Amino acid sequence: MLSPADSARLLDAARAAQQRAYAPYSKFYVGAAVLTESGNVYTGCNVENASYGLTNCAERTAVFSAVAAEGAGVKLRAVAVTNAASVACSPCGACRQVIFEFGPQAAVVFQGDTGFVTATAAELLPSGFTLE
Ligand code: THU
Repeated sequence: MLSPADSARLLDAARAAQQRAYAPYSKFYVGAAVLTESGNVYTGCNVENASYGLTNCAERTAVFSAVAAEGAGVKLRAVAVTNAASVACSPCGACRQVIFEFGPQAAVVFQGDTGFVTATAAELLPSGFTLE
C-alpha cells in the first residue's frame, strides 16, 4: 500500500521531472517518479527523437535510472506519472511491461479521466511476460 504522503511526494517529484522533458515534437511533457523498496526516489522524463520511434517515455526513463543507481536487484514499490497538460495519461503498454519486470505489485499512480488513480502493475498488465 502507498500512503497518501508517499503518493503526494512521488507526484511532486514527477512534476519536477516533467519540467525537464525533451518533447519538441509532441509537446506533451511527461514526468515520472519511482519509489524503490530501499526507500529511494528516482525520476525520469520523456525524451523524444527526430527519429520518432526512438522516443523513451518518462516511466521507462525513471525505471532505468533506478536500475542504474541501485543495480539489478532493484524492486519498485510505486510509480507516479504526471503531464504538463494535466490530462488523462496512463502508462503505455511498453512501460507497463518494464514496470512489471521490477515490481509486479508496485502501485502505479496516474491521471485517469476523473483524477489520479492507483492500480498495481499487474492490474494494468494482466499476464505480464516473465522469462524463467
Ligand atoms: N509518453 C510518456 O512519456 N508516458 C506516457 O505514459 C504516455 C506517453 C510520451 C511519449 C511521447 O514523448 C509523448 O508522450 C507523446 O506520446
